Amino acid sequence: MKKIPRDTYRTPLQIIEKVKTFYDTKIDLDPAVPLLDNGKNTHATVEWNILDDALTKDWSEFRTIYINPPYSDILPWIRKTVETINNGNDNQILLLLLNSSGNRWFKLMLQESECVLFMDERISFDGKSRFMKGLLIVYFNNKNRKKRLKRFISEFSSMGEIVKRVESNG
Ligand SMILES: C[S@@+](CC[C@H](N)C(=O)[O-])C[C@H]1O[C@@H](n2cnc3c(N)ncnc32)[C@H](O)[C@@H]1O
Repeated sequence: MKKIPRDTYRTPLQIIEKVKTFYDTKIDLDPAVPLLDNGKNTHATVEWNILDDALTKDWSEFRTIYINPPYSDILPWIRKTVETINNGNDNQILLLLLNSSGNRWFKLMLQESECVLFMDERISFDGKSRFMKGLLIVYFNNKNRKKRLKRFISEFSSMGEIVKRVESNG
């Protein structure tokens, strides 16, 4: 059986459908799509691949963003997400990430995100075997937070536990 490199795993369709519903049917930007996609990854209005180098571009004009980043190097994607969310525009960003604490990216993600869904099920990327690690859907957002958090809970709570960080300076 041919092994799929984990940097190019495609998001299972059932997750894409949930993301679209959460965003009112439209993902404005997917900044990390495979190079030779032949139209198979058409869930976002704008899609960038490695030749576009999404990490050097400005994401702020895109209101609804979905990212399944290359898992070999997640930190730059979290940094770019945080930069985008803090730019004052109304951006919302969902990421599909590994449940993998102890990394720099994981701490930054926890500190800056709105909430994190820990998925109950081990999902399958290839339709055959289940992925060896648990996955997270992480939500970043800086506007209309209460309303959107409620919406996140209503869309994603059937998939696992949703966790929200508490401030430690209270
Ligand atoms: C895990 S795949 C996700 C595929 C697709 N977005 C999905 O969710 O089904 C990550 C993709 O990001 C691409 N990529 C890696 N570095 C990139 C960069 N700097 N800019 C844009 N895409 C990049 C890789 O080529 C890979 O195909």
